[in-house]
Amino acid sequence: MIVRRSMDELHKLRRSGLLVYQILEDLRQMASEGVTTHDLEVAAEKKIADAGARPAFKGYYTQASGTRYPFVLCTSVNEEVVHGMPSAKRKLRRGDIVSIDTGVLLDGYYGDSAITVAIGEVNDSVQRLLKITEESLELAIDRVRAGNRLFDVCGAVEKHVTANGFSIVREFVGHGIGTSLHEEPQIPNYVDRRGENPRLKPGMVLAIEPMVNAGKAETKVLADKWTAVAKDGSYSAHFEHMVAVTDNGPWVLSRP
Ligand code: MF3
Ligand code: CO
Repeated sequence: MIVRRSMDELHKLRRSGLLVYQILEDLRQMASEGVTTHDLEVAAEKKIADAGARPAFKGYYTQASGTRYPFVLCTSVNEEVVHGMPSAKRKLRRGDIVSIDTGVLLDGYYGDSAITVAIGEVNDSVQRLLKITEESLELAIDRVRAGNRLFDVCGAVEKHVTANGFSIVREFVGHGIGTSLHEEPQIPNYVDRRGENPRLKPGMVLAIEPMVNAGKAETKVLADKWTAVAKDGSYSAHFEHMVAVTDNGPWVLSRP
């Protein structure tokens, strides 16, 4: 069942979304040569506490890992796709890209968003990877309209990414979001004909999160049980927004 939120609830999700936005923008400024992903983690943890919120990822259990995630951020560098773990040993360097993904719980409602940031100058093909991935998210957002179906959203990402020669990660998907971090529906970044294709209705809230590899699509999870990497070592980008279906079109809750 896909929950439909009241206007009052959407405004609570909006507050959570904007908190995540503000944290990510601060971290975007901070992320530069010599800064470690642990430095980002420490800053994010303080911002979440100062806002009177709780981190959504820290302590989150997944069956796949069999463990609780230990950090407030996922920081996935270069060939890391998602769920990279902050580390004091991981100094960002010129030419790196880092996906910064975080979630909060504020007043009973979750926020979740991700950006991928380039450190200094990155080469043209990496720049293109970031651009196409972010564009694919924007195209998907534009499909979040009452009367459209889930496959319209999924297909928008898939079409743009594949037309530009990149690969869509299949093992991880977007999700509904509300009073749980992960709610129905699952939102693959491709049209999964074996999956459900519900019609979108006002009040539904979707966390859309394209994960795109420059090389092949296949991923593997490292021995730490969390870090997913591109099997072929190619760079991977990730952007995420929470989007509400309204009578007036898409409402991106995780940006002003
Ligand atoms: N944005 C990701 C997701 O929605 C990150 C989750 S990390 C976890 O799945 F630790 F919470 F699992
Ligand atoms: Co998410």
